[in-house]
Amino acid sequence: MTNNRESFGGRFAVLVALVGSAVGLGNLWRFPYLVGRNGGAAFILIYIVIALLICLPMMLSEGIIGRRAGANVFRSFKKLAPGSGWWLIGIGTIITTSLIISFYSVVGGWIIYFLVKSATLQLSGDATANGGIFTSLISSPIEPLVYTAIFLFATGGIISMGVKSGIEKVSKILMPLLFVCTVIIAVESLMLPGSSKGVEFLFKPDFSKVTAETVFQALGQAFFSMSLGCGIIITYSSYIKKNEHIVTTSFITSCMDTLFALIAGLAIMPAVFAFGQEPAQGPGLLFVILPDIFTKIPGGEVIAILFFIVVFVAAVTSSISLLEIDVAFLSEEFGWSRAKSATISSSIIFIFSVLCSLSMGPLKDFTIAGKTIFDLFDYVTANILMTVCSLGCVLFAGWKLKREDIIDELTNAGKLKISPATVSFFIFSIRYIAPAAIIIIAIFSLFA
Ligand code: TRP
Repeated sequence: MTNNRESFGGRFAVLVALVGSAVGLGNLWRFPYLVGRNGGAAFILIYIVIALLICLPMMLSEGIIGRRAGANVFRSFKKLAPGSGWWLIGIGTIITTSLIISFYSVVGGWIIYFLVKSATLQLSGDATANGGIFTSLISSPIEPLVYTAIFLFATGGIISMGVKSGIEKVSKILMPLLFVCTVIIAVESLMLPGSSKGVEFLFKPDFSKVTAETVFQALGQAFFSMSLGCGIIITYSSYIKKNEHIVTTSFITSCMDTLFALIAGLAIMPAVFAFGQEPAQGPGLLFVILPDIFTKIPGGEVIAILFFIVVFVAAVTSSISLLEIDVAFLSEEFGWSRAKSATISSSIIFIFSVLCSLSMGPLKDFTIAGKTIFDLFDYVTANILMTVCSLGCVLFAGWKLKREDIIDELTNAGKLKISPATVSFFIFSIRYIAPAAIIIIAIFSLFA
């Protein structure tokens, strides 16, 4: 294992990388819809409380594990709990992220395709036609694979350049670009006649829509959106210097993630309502409804390009963080260069991506437990693997790490002040509240 590990240059670098991982398709294609359907501002309030009381402590516990150990996911557990079997959680996160990236890259490929289509003005002003473009793309055998490969190997290429000159540099450029483009689109969208109905959909508080299910949905979304339970925060935190403030960093990351989700809502929903469309989520929203709307807005060609840049950036910075788990593991444990580790891991993942992509077309009748390969990967990672790994991480931080070590990390070895009440709340949350929340989400999503 190599000792001279790289680290992020400074606080801004850490933040853009973490926010880059957190801000992804979940913020764009799911959060706005969930908010609107579940009571607007009432949902947002619940979401924020959950993010602060449950998800932030979880993020911090992954942060503590990573920074304390200063190693890849597997080695982190080995170092902090020698002679025990906790390292299996590390291996679990490697498997989880590899499976996630295999279908995430397929969607990344679709995004590149739509970016090319919008840049060459080939989107049509007709939802049925755009629906046709999308369906014929995903069901064709070869074309999506080409774009998937571009997405995956570009991710690998960025990672090969290193933590500082690859991940950090790219995130520093792309994340501000993402925010600027999204704000421009939100302003345009809000200026459309009839957009206020979209704002109402997002923000009008309606507590009558709040049920137990709403709370579980908020929990699940916050969890997914902050990239918890996949070892990402452990890996990125292992590159955080000892003098950075991990409490502040985690707090700002979760705030930025939520803020971005809200701005994304303002970019999408007002336009959807201005054109009398039904609010929607998922690929149908991104690849069918929105392209149709863009062609109807004055200057919409430019907005379409900006929008697909936003989606691409959101996806690629998330996939970088996913692949980094494998690369950190392979390069540190086998002594391979980052480039070799990235090439080998991307190539293996690509085989799974091919299966995922084909399961939308030629292999669509091949199902396991009633699910296509793509859906199966999505289901198994979201409902089983992420649950097990995140439970493992918080239980490890809450019950296995020593209280003094936790305080040592939270205060940078005593240099920062933190009240004993905050520490006690944090430990209480990761010992009891967070594990209970994870189990509840798991049961809810298995039976939903
Ligand atoms: N947070 C990402 C989003 O909002 C999705 C995600 C979940 C993710 N877990 C992850 C991204 C792990 C990277 C790594 O879309």
